[in-house]
Amino acid sequence: MDTTKQRPSLSAKFIAELEEVFSSDTLFFHPEEIEKFSRDQTEDLVFPPEVVVKPNTVEEVSRLMQCCNRHGVPVTPVAARTGLSGGALCVNGGVALSMERFNRILSIDENNGQVLTEPAVITQVLMEECAKKGWYYAPDPASRGSCSIGGNIAENSGGPRAVKYGVTKDFVLNLEVVLPSGKVIWTGANTLKNATGYNLTQLMVGSEGTLGVMTKAVLKLLPLPKHNLLMLVPFSSAEKACEAVSAIFKAGITPSALEFMERDAIIHTLQYVPDVQLPVGPDVQAHLLVEVDGNHLEILMKDCELITEVLTQFDCGEILFAEDNAQKNQLWKLRRKAGEAVKAHSVYKEEDTVVPRYELPRLLKGVKVIGKKYGFRSVCYGHAGDGNLHVNILKDDLSDEEWTSQLPEAIREIFELTVSLGGTLSGEHGIGWVQKNYMDIAFPHLQIELMHSIKAIFDPNNILNPGKIFPDKVTV
Ligand code: LAC
Ligand code: ZN
Repeated sequence: MDTTKQRPSLSAKFIAELEEVFSSDTLFFHPEEIEKFSRDQTEDLVFPPEVVVKPNTVEEVSRLMQCCNRHGVPVTPVAARTGLSGGALCVNGGVALSMERFNRILSIDENNGQVLTEPAVITQVLMEECAKKGWYYAPDPASRGSCSIGGNIAENSGGPRAVKYGVTKDFVLNLEVVLPSGKVIWTGANTLKNATGYNLTQLMVGSEGTLGVMTKAVLKLLPLPKHNLLMLVPFSSAEKACEAVSAIFKAGITPSALEFMERDAIIHTLQYVPDVQLPVGPDVQAHLLVEVDGNHLEILMKDCELITEVLTQFDCGEILFAEDNAQKNQLWKLRRKAGEAVKAHSVYKEEDTVVPRYELPRLLKGVKVIGKKYGFRSVCYGHAGDGNLHVNILKDDLSDEEWTSQLPEAIREIFELTVSLGGTLSGEHGIGWVQKNYMDIAFPHLQIELMHSIKAIFDPNNILNPGKIFPDKVTV
């Protein structure tokens, strides 16, 4: 096959070297495969790689990194392509490094409550396998049925249960990583405590595939809670729903999930998942979905009573308690499918704003004011207990001109508001490609410089996922 003709920007020498190291079932130049790796779940963005490589072993990942380093070819590590900030998009072409063959759970250590896993294991599969042995892996992004542990670690993903149990970083103990040089390291130890030098493990978590390629992870597990109760609470004011959030914690309860969905999020999702039915009265402007979990049902009932008392003070409507697992699954489906539903409805842009939770009502109000000013509609939902509001800005009937010229300014205003409330740009989706030019709002130059310096130590030739995180104006 004359691959050089198809892929003119990769040198013949580079391709020859790849073909020497990798068998033909590891290298993919075929248009179908290239097309598949051109996109993740970020908006409607498309960036084709020039070749897709699917290594089988750590040694092969290492040899790929050495080869790309020698030739200065960009490598983008790709997990399950469910990301929302473009972290897995091959914005500079080059190699898409698919980790999909690293898909085994290697061992579950029931004595220590740990799991050793490869990165391409689907998050929900890992959760279910651990649950069979009575252990709980808590971080559960909305896309847990299709995202992978490796992607979760790269983005430091959260999800609904983060409010009680923490995000992915709180579960990562140790990582095997292939560095851009091709050298292979373990970042820490398989211990719950570790005060030994700089924390390389946590530096890797959330580094969005820019510092190294994870090939194994040791994750912490918790004893699996025996029971949970779920309630759906309507409000006639979205701001009041947000105000109720911090009051629940002040009353002494940490729910295992505390999610917010404004009216349009529910309406779009009900249209998208017709098997879920829920009457939404004309005066309902938002819902909170509240879950508590633990080992003693009677305590959870008492917690729900207390939560109900709090919520009543914020003018909630009639609370729906899920009666059984089937109903719980339906309500969770409604929440977890909100992002997909909005995406199916309109071209959109998503911001993953996060503020201290008491500021949530002000954030929501401000987002709507900015929307009015710039003439766009937003659909908001997210992890209210974490102050993490997903703001989906819809193109609807806006012209291409209005969409492209006005929007960056409007988004900048949203982020400025977020930061002025003590928050930051992303709670769980990462900066990736789509938010990088707003980084100056979150960090003065000095912090960005420090991050650059770290990047340069790990990846002096800037081959690993270049074009991500750092603003365009500053070059690495
Ligand atoms: C969610 C994804 C978008 O919470 O993070 O639905
Ligand atoms: Zn989310």
